[in-house]
Amino acid sequence: MTTDIDARVRLARDIERGASVLSSRVVEAFLNVPRHPFVPAFYRWEDGAYRAQSAGGGAWLGSVYADEVLVTEVDDAPGAEVGGVATSSSTAPGLMAEMLDALDVRPGDRVLEVGTGTGYNAALLCHLAGAGNVTTVDRTAHLVEAARERLGADVAVVRADGVHGCPGGGPFDRVIATCSVRRIPRAWLDQCVTGGLIVAPIGNALGGGAVACLTKLPDGGAAGRFLHRPAAFMPLRADGNAAAVHDVPTGGRRRTSVVGARVLDDHGFSFWAGLRLPPAVVRVGGGTLHDPTDGSTAHVDDHPGRPSTVTTAGPRDLWQLVEAARTTWRRHHRPRREWFTLTIAPGGPQLVSYGAPGGGMTCCPL
Ligand SMILES: C[S@@+](CC[C@H](N)C(=O)[O-])C[C@H]1O[C@@H](n2cnc3c(N)ncnc32)[C@H](O)[C@@H]1O
Repeated sequence: MTTDIDARVRLARDIERGASVLSSRVVEAFLNVPRHPFVPAFYRWEDGAYRAQSAGGGAWLGSVYADEVLVTEVDDAPGAEVGGVATSSSTAPGLMAEMLDALDVRPGDRVLEVGTGTGYNAALLCHLAGAGNVTTVDRTAHLVEAARERLGADVAVVRADGVHGCPGGGPFDRVIATCSVRRIPRAWLDQCVTGGLIVAPIGNALGGGAVACLTKLPDGGAAGRFLHRPAAFMPLRADGNAAAVHDVPTGGRRRTSVVGARVLDDHGFSFWAGLRLPPAVVRVGGGTLHDPTDGSTAHVDDHPGRPSTVTTAGPRDLWQLVEAARTTWRRHHRPRREWFTLTIAPGGPQLVSYGAPGGGMTCCPL
């Protein structure tokens, strides 16, 4: 019979195999901190909804120690049987490992995590930094309560809107977010010491997202790069906001395009294109883009061997923006996300830049 320890060792091996080179301290943390106490229940997407899976047993343990994201809360409703929108989850361990590796936590570092969720990442952080050094915040009261019980007194679990960092303000040597932001909130920079590290997923319009790894600079700004691995985290939500459900129009004007919907699944391209789409645009399902601010919608159907069909509604053709982005992306040698830098000026813009080989700098505000 497989024990949770066998399963943990297998997971640590899977994480090492799937990643570039990881620090042995990070792998050792995954060997020593069990995941199963943090995910007593989870949901799977089946027949158009998230459905609760029965806890306990070999199959459950197998899923808990697979390198997969586990949805742990739906529709903000603790213990719901069925739901439509994931509101909390335990991140895929391989991605957690790469983020922890980039965060480079040393014993004694003071660490802030935004997005407690199950508490598993906070437990790993505590293993790396030591008891009493980790503070984690989440906006949802019942998640905070459950995580407090699981983590005990070693970690400070605080209910707060993480956009403001930690109430009371740090300072922290390391700041990590496990929900995505469009831009790095000012408070995270202010609460991080000079030379400290900030690791945070930047969500973009196309849902792909990229993890920014930044160093806080003496002038109050920050600079750094992105991880190669794509990261689609749930967004940091404004307090009181329900999780977004989009009412997307069907029907509209039709045309064809040589750029098919599958282009959005290329993580290199979706990062580039996401920087060029209006900030409110969201990808709703496979080939649909929607801007809730003016109702513009583009739905793309691919047909093998023929041009794709584009159906647009609202004032703007959003697919035209994707087509234009694809032309510039190809012209710039299809850059990968880890070739970009992110620079945050103190009190100023947050700029993503890429220097193409042979000259030519591309710069986009986040
Ligand atoms: C992917 S889950 C976090 C996973 C977690 N680190 C773990 O190990 O289980 C994202 C979390 O971000 C939280 N969140 C979303 N918006 C937030 C906000 N404004 N402030 C704090 N937490 C927020 C959600 O409640 C959710 O629990």
